[in-house]
Amino acid sequence: MTSYTVAELLTQEPKLQPIEVKGWVRTFRAKRFIALNDGSTLKNIQCVVDFENTDEILLKRITTGAAVHIKGELVESQGKGQNVEITVTEIDILGDSDPETYPIQPKKHSFEFLRDNAHLRTRTNTFSAIMRLRSSLSFAIHKYFNENGFYYMHTPIITGSDAEGAGEMFRVTNLDDKNPPLNDQGDVDYKEDFFGRETNLTVSGQLEAETYAMSLGKVYTFGPTFRAENSNTSRHLAEFWMIEPEVAFMDLDGNMDLAEDFMKAVLGHVLENNMDDLEFLEKRLQDEEKTKPQAERSPMSLIEKLKFVVDNNFKRVSYTEAIDILRNSKPNKKKKFNYIIEEWGADLQSEHERYLVEKHFKCPVILFDYPADIKAFYMRLNDDGKTVRAMDILFPGIGEIVGGAQREERLEVLKEKMSALDIDEKELWWYLDLRKYGTAVHSGFGLGFERLVMFATGMTNIRDVIPFPRTPQNAEF
Ligand code: 4AD
Ligand code: MG
Repeated sequence: MTSYTVAELLTQEPKLQPIEVKGWVRTFRAKRFIALNDGSTLKNIQCVVDFENTDEILLKRITTGAAVHIKGELVESQGKGQNVEITVTEIDILGDSDPETYPIQPKKHSFEFLRDNAHLRTRTNTFSAIMRLRSSLSFAIHKYFNENGFYYMHTPIITGSDAEGAGEMFRVTNLDDKNPPLNDQGDVDYKEDFFGRETNLTVSGQLEAETYAMSLGKVYTFGPTFRAENSNTSRHLAEFWMIEPEVAFMDLDGNMDLAEDFMKAVLGHVLENNMDDLEFLEKRLQDEEKTKPQAERSPMSLIEKLKFVVDNNFKRVSYTEAIDILRNSKPNKKKKFNYIIEEWGADLQSEHERYLVEKHFKCPVILFDYPADIKAFYMRLNDDGKTVRAMDILFPGIGEIVGGAQREERLEVLKEKMSALDIDEKELWWYLDLRKYGTAVHSGFGLGFERLVMFATGMTNIRDVIPFPRTPQNAEF
């Protein structure tokens, strides 16, 4: 007897051969029809039980959520929407599931409720579809870089440097709380955090990736990053995954080309390989849309949005042009922006980013050449002395999805910038070494993986696209 997954069985010919399968019961109807799911596909396989010849006690144990081992024959199905079903000859309950207490009932649950049950929420169609898409996107990312001559490198999680210079780090310490080392002033000496160093969880692998780009040429990281910022929004997590390619001898134009090609390739991959899950999520969104007034409904479906991004050029606009557009526009007839940009140099708020993408250009936008003062210390200063070779990619419904830059490769200019921002040269001596020995133009970017998954699934809260979200409310699991 051959063992199959549900996905395999659903594509088999009904040859009446004996088969076996293991999975979880989604529903059990009329003492006869089990809808069985094992995670291999969105779809369930129908397993038909001969209830007249099955022990009553066993029948009672076939409940939603129970793990079962089924033996039977694959036969042509009489039911609608399925070619095959299983005529059950033997059923073994591997793990019971008490219907009185099992949280995932066959009905619609709110996302809040499911977040509180993050350990079981992937037993729903919505979350299993999201997590299969997440896995597929992750594979597509590695595939893209592998096919384009990049090396995958692992950057440290515990680090002494603040890559973004924004001070949004979680400290890592092995100090004894009850008896901490004290400095000369009698305060806790955090310099002793980690065997004599002050350390934190990484906010970005970029600086370390730069060191490898300056020897291996084309590299990327894909790992967890941590930010102790206010993550009480639908787009921020305290722990998220970031993809950071870094390339030697590549300038900002090359960086924009790479980012655009890469985004199109990974979204194209799920359009080619994950249509079942995408169609399911699209249907869910369409039902949700129907509850909104006509004017607020999205003009494009989920799949149309993905295809649009894959098939159309991103619009490239300088910060200065964007500011002009924003100053001369009204987001709607009466209302102005909540935050009015008075002066060149102000940072864009998410309402501005969304206006540019969703109302003005109606396509993904790459904004570049930002004012130096609102960007990180490592970005290359332009000849105008006030803008840097930065780029952010803005996506409809998401806002900023990518942040990147050409890096400052000139030792003296970088030192000046660090000194102006009070960044100690001693802390980043190794980073400065790259500018001392064989420096060259180089660039890279960071893609927030969860924001990509949000875009690909149409989910509007970032907590619903990562298995176990880390936010001020969710850190239990
Ligand atoms: O713009 P950020 O801060 O850029 C960097 O960290 C650079 N070192 C990247 C590089 O050039 N190698 O972050 C990059 C992306 C953002 O565009 C956003 O998509 C995501 O990371 N991101 C977050 N995602 C979820 N939760 C948060 N708190 C995030 N902060 C940034
Ligand atoms: Mg950014």
